[in-house]
Amino acid sequence: MNIILIGACGRMGRNVAEVAAEQGVNIAAGVDVVPAQLPFPLYRSFSDVREDADAAIDFSSASGLESTLAVCEARGIPVVLAATGYTEADEARIRSSAEKIAVFKTGNLSLGVNLLQMLAKKAAQVLGDAFDAEIVERHHHNKKDAPSGTALMLAKSVNEGFGGGKENVYGRHGMVGERRQSEIGIHAVRGGTIVGEHEVMFAGEDEIVTLAHSARSRKVFASGALKAAAWLQGRAPGLYDMDDLLAGIV
Ligand SMILES: NC(=O)c1ccc[n+]([C@@H]2O[C@H](COP(=O)([O-])OP(=O)(O)OC[C@H]3O[C@@H](n4cnc5c(N)ncnc54)[C@H](O)[C@@H]3O)[C@@H](O)[C@H]2O)c1
Repeated sequence: MNIILIGACGRMGRNVAEVAAEQGVNIAAGVDVVPAQLPFPLYRSFSDVREDADAAIDFSSASGLESTLAVCEARGIPVVLAATGYTEADEARIRSSAEKIAVFKTGNLSLGVNLLQMLAKKAAQVLGDAFDAEIVERHHHNKKDAPSGTALMLAKSVNEGFGGGKENVYGRHGMVGERRQSEIGIHAVRGGTIVGEHEVMFAGEDEIVTLAHSARSRKVFASGALKAAAWLQGRAPGLYDMDDLLAGIV
C-alpha cells in the first residue's frame, strides 16, 4: 500500500511513518507546512505531490481539511481524516466529499476507545436518567482543541444510550446552579505528556459506575489509521467510521 501522509512532521505523522515501516507499508510522500528531514519526499502543499497513492492519511489539523479533500477528490484517492477540531462547516464539507470518494473519519482510531464508546452507550441504556453522566478527558499540554474529539464522540454515544435529549455542558465555572438532569458534563484536563485518557462516570444515588480508557502510546492511533487506510481499499464513495471497520469484529 502507498500512502500520502499529511501532517508528516507532527507527533502523529512521525508515529504513522514508524509503524508503517514496521508493517512494510510505503509512505510515498509526506505533506507538512514545516520542513524536516524524512525518509520520503516531503511537500509543503498536497497539490504538489506527484507520487501515486492508494490512500491519504491526514493527521495535520482542521486547517488542512480543504486542501486534503480537494486533492483527494481530484485524484480519486480514499482518505482517512484523523485530525480533530472540525467545525460544523467542515463536517458539511466532509459529507459532500464523501459523495465522490471514500472518506474514513473518526475522532479516535484506537480499538479500546471504540469499545469504551459501545460500553458507555450500553451503560446509559441500562442505568437511565437516575444516573448523571460526566466525561473527563486528559491530554498533553500541546493539544490545541478542547474538549477532545473522543470526548465528543463519547458524549454523543452516551446521549444516544439515554434515548437522546441531553445537552453537553463544558467545564462548569462560577455560580452555575444545580446540575440539570439533561446535562452531560465534559471536562478537559491538560498537562505534561499524557497521550490520552478518557473517563465516563455515571453517578447515581449511592453508587458510581466508571468506565475508562488510557492510551499509553501514540502507536495505537497510528496503527488504527493504517488499518483504516487498508480497509478503505476498493470501498464505494461514502463516509465511514470505526463502527464500519469493527462491524466484522464485534
Ligand atoms: N483520530 C485519532 O485517533 C487521533 C489521535 C491523536 C491525534 N489526533 C489528532 O491529529 C492531529 C495531529 O495531532 P499531533 O499530536 O500529531 O499534532 P502536531 O501539532 O504534533 O502535528 C500536526 C502537524 O501537522 C502540520 N500541519 C498543521 N496544519 C497543516 C496544514 N494545513 N497543512 C499541512 N500540514 C499542517 C503541522 O505543521 C504539524 O507538523 C490533531 O488534530 C489531533 O487532535 C487524532
